[in-house]
Amino acid sequence: MAKSIYILGAGGQGHLVYGLLVDLNMGGQVMGYVEDNSKRAGELSLGKPVYDSDILKNLDRNETLLVSGIGNSIRKNFIEKAKSMDYSFKTLIHPSVIKSQWLRTGEGVTIFAGVIIAPEVNIGDFSYVGISSIIGHDVNIGKYASISFGVNISGSVNIGDMTYIGVGTTIREKVSIGSGSFIGMGSLVTKDIPDHVLAYGSPAKVIKEINENDIKKFI
Ligand SMILES: CC(C)(COP(=O)(O)OP(=O)(O)OC[C@H]1O[C@@H](n2cnc3c(N)ncnc32)[C@H](O)[C@@H]1OP(=O)(O)O)[C@@H](O)C(=O)NCCC(=O)NCCS
Repeated sequence: MAKSIYILGAGGQGHLVYGLLVDLNMGGQVMGYVEDNSKRAGELSLGKPVYDSDILKNLDRNETLLVSGIGNSIRKNFIEKAKSMDYSFKTLIHPSVIKSQWLRTGEGVTIFAGVIIAPEVNIGDFSYVGISSIIGHDVNIGKYASISFGVNISGSVNIGDMTYIGVGTTIREKVSIGSGSFIGMGSLVTKDIPDHVLAYGSPAKVIKEINENDIKKFI
């Protein structure tokens, strides 16, 4: 029998992931969304119930799969908690994705509709690539990274762990973006960007240093 699926997160990203599961003909397996300290527990969201994370104490690990549905890197804490409880995460790739045979994905990666991925691309654990993004050849994306909608990543680009790339951003070839950084929407990234900074603009400039709490305020 097909396993039950729970989506971690019941916000916009949770809805996107539910839509992706429906497109994969897996909508019937979705039992609902799970949130930490949920204020919406018991409500329906796109017709599926929202549960508090207490439910994770009682589910059968062998019959349950989790998928990540949280859009920023703050998902790391929740995912690590679920992993420590022996849950497994599923990688989801939309049927419309055009990808080479040389794509390597880690655990719990999500690739949304219309994405195109050139050869020799690595996408680390629990990262996602948003609708209509294009990833060039020889690109490395770290763990817990978030690539929003319509992002264009040129060849030989590196993106660090837990970094967020805002909607519609374009990144020049051979550029490295550090870990824990946030690139604002519509940016044109022409030079390397260090760890833990907010950068945006055309060309993108570092605006300030940031930490995990700042990211919660951005998205
Ligand atoms: C970068 C970002 C986090 C900044 O948010 P913020 O701190 O609330 O910034 P503000 O809206 O207060 O803007 C501050 C200034 O920066 C400018 N600015 C903000 N984001 C910018 C961007 N991406 N590019 C150029 N300028 C930008 C604003 O116009 C404003 O300029 P001003 O002081 O001259 O009026 C936000 O703009 C952003 O890009 N978020 C990501 C959006 C996204 O990708 N969403 C996809 C998920 S659905």
